[in-house]
Amino acid sequence: MDIALSVNLNKIALIRNSREGNYPNLIEHAKACISHGSDGITVHPRPDQRHVRPGDVLQLAELLKPLPDIEFNVEGNPFAAARGDYPGLTALAEASLPDQCTLVPDSDHQLTSDHGFDLTKTADKLLPVIEKLNALKIRVSLFMDPIPKQIELAKQLGADRIELYTGPYAAAWSHDAEIRERLYQQHHQAALLATELGLGVNAGHDLNLHNLPRFSTIPGLKEVSIGHALIVDAITLGLENAVKAYKAILELATNSQDLK
Ligand code: PXP
Repeated sequence: MDIALSVNLNKIALIRNSREGNYPNLIEHAKACISHGSDGITVHPRPDQRHVRPGDVLQLAELLKPLPDIEFNVEGNPFAAARGDYPGLTALAEASLPDQCTLVPDSDHQLTSDHGFDLTKTADKLLPVIEKLNALKIRVSLFMDPIPKQIELAKQLGADRIELYTGPYAAAWSHDAEIRERLYQQHHQAALLATELGLGVNAGHDLNLHNLPRFSTIPGLKEVSIGHALIVDAITLGLENAVKAYKAILELATNSQDLK
């Protein structure tokens, strides 16, 4: 099975929002990512609308509806209240019907998502959200740290997948080989456990052309969602070459998994 690349378009929206008007155009960039080989599009609308806005999510849903092979993944905190024209994640999911919702425990004060759920605390609140998304036939993925007990709870809650939070692994990559290897092994074990439990495994955060080759060898990895580094790479390589460079890494990893 190929490891899917879902390009996160938040950074395109962030640049657009820094000026009046619609430049760069998010929808045109989604189309370009797809034509260059991306298997999916990810967005993370936030109540503060710092990057992707609710209207973008609806437009992307329209774009992707006739493209069943391209996965639409909408991320966000299901407990963040509606604000202004941000209707809340579940309402937005109901209106846009993405293929997958990745639930993330983030808040306005975070620059970006920086930890997974502690399901010993949030399971009761998450359960009705998962049931609602399941009823809408939206696959549910939970953003998680690579902690075995937490992954077992994700299964018990009825999640379809987990998305492993790779920030600490990525942070260790360039300066501490020992920590990097320890974190890689944690992710490896977490992915094995999730797969044994019947959970699909996604991963994301700060993955880049340097740290992805090793990470993409964890067992059963189905999808990576990558935004920041890929868009930065696109500045120097161009979007087409950037998407293709990430795809090439994932294809190699897929091949080596098949050989095992
Ligand atoms: N996964 C989640 C839950 C995220 O919030 C983000 C950032 O929006 C990503 C993956 C992608 O991270 P990055 O932009 O560092 O590639």
